[in-house]
Amino acid sequence: MARRPAVLVVDDDPGIRESFRLILEDHYDVVDVPDGPSALDVVHASQVDLVLLDIRLTGMDGIEVLERIKAIDEGIEVILVTAVKTVRTAVAAMKLGAFDYLTKPFEEDELLSLSRRALERRALEREVAFLRSELARTHDLDEIVGQHPAMEKLHGLIAQVARTSTTVLITGESGTGKELVARAIHRQGARREAPFVAVNPAAIAESLIESELFGHEKGAFTGAHQRKLGKFELAQGGTFFLDEIGTLRAELQAKLLRVLQEREIERVGGTRPVKIDVRFIAATNSNLKEAVGHGAFREDLYYRLNVVHVVVPPLRERIQDVPVLVDHFSRRHNRRFNKRLGGLSPEALAALQAYRWPGNVRELENVIERCVVLAEGPVIQLNDLPLDVLLPQQATKVRAAEALPLNEATDQFERQIVLRVLERVGWNLTEAGRILAIHRNSLRVKLARWAVRAPGGER
Ligand SMILES: Nc1ncnc2c1ncn2[C@@H]1O[C@H](COP(=O)(O)OP(=O)(O)OP(=O)(O)O)[C@@H](O)[C@H]1O
Ligand SMILES: [Mg+2]
Repeated sequence: MARRPAVLVVDDDPGIRESFRLILEDHYDVVDVPDGPSALDVVHASQVDLVLLDIRLTGMDGIEVLERIKAIDEGIEVILVTAVKTVRTAVAAMKLGAFDYLTKPFEEDELLSLSRRALERRALEREVAFLRSELARTHDLDEIVGQHPAMEKLHGLIAQVARTSTTVLITGESGTGKELVARAIHRQGARREAPFVAVNPAAIAESLIESELFGHEKGAFTGAHQRKLGKFELAQGGTFFLDEIGTLRAELQAKLLRVLQEREIERVGGTRPVKIDVRFIAATNSNLKEAVGHGAFREDLYYRLNVVHVVVPPLRERIQDVPVLVDHFSRRHNRRFNKRLGGLSPEALAALQAYRWPGNVRELENVIERCVVLAEGPVIQLNDLPLDVLLPQQATKVRAAEALPLNEATDQFERQIVLRVLERVGWNLTEAGRILAIHRNSLRVKLARWAVRAPGGER
């Protein structure tokens, strides 16, 4: 603990409060109060680490105060102070979470050593909680989930590249996890303690890109009131990740090439070069080779970047990974929204595996997040899924045309209702036909027209 620990003394005898204060004041910040309600006020209003609590208080008794303090913050340590005749009560209080008890009259050393031990436990518990949350964070947010052979290969390649400082080009469709891969390379390599700096030039205003990347000297242009370090310099010793490299305009391509060749940069308005020691990772979802072909991307830069090429496969090419990804994201969002959604119905899983996933893993994560928030049942059902996933062709049409002719809109609506009922009755066409009051053969005709097949065959 960087600050001095805060100790709260609760005792109705002013003489005893004073003696506690005299002993403790040299080591801790001490606050003292005469009764339970004022003690709870202090706990509510400020950081308290340790409470020395008299069991026999007038009004609210010590045991109740103990329970209430623990209800406010379980991590606050409490030492009960008792006269010999109430030791039994003190033992019971230990069960309610008190750290220990102190019998009156006590020695100064006894009080000090007990307090120190209680505060050490508190510090330790905080550290463990912090480490645990860090662990969960790195494990969860940075984990690359997938068991498909292509993903196993990807893991191998990441480990191999991480051992070097070589330039890496990562390609893959939008949302496939390119940035995740870049971070994994950084984290597994020797530069892990140094910064990972990501820049997406497509997200920065054209006029600011240069100074963002290279920094500027004071007075380099109107508004440059002081020297500013660019992203390259901020990444010193670490990894510089340039996202959406395909969007870089010609002039910046030339500058980047120079950085890669010379390993130095010049700040805007600067007069001398600055040495740069970073590993470059670039990513793109466009086809750079093609861009080179029609002159939109410099060939020399392309070869400089493309030393090791890592390809991240689209989700539809590793559709077997959908269940593990769903599991991963439902755990993440269950935790986030304090929900307990437990997986997918077989029909919902079939729908997710039939979908083409143009937005890849990011789109899947969004779907699962939405389900965790909205689904009412214990598992995700077909009708919890967004229309885009259920009716991909139709949804595209809606977006393209902004509106539908009435017959198409009706058709879409009908399709939703039919699918919901079918799922509810386990795809029993006779039963669904009865509920919807149409013949099962008509139902069959409709399903064929919508190109919907019963998961696992119709019953
Ligand atoms: N294999 C995976 N396992 C777990 N999460 C993943 C995986 N792939 C992607 N994600 C998650 O999907 C989201 C998108 O990933 P990321 O930003 O790395 O993709 P990207 O390829 O850089 O996308 P874009 O081209 O749109 O920038 C992130 O939230 C990421 O954590
Ligand atoms: Mg990205």
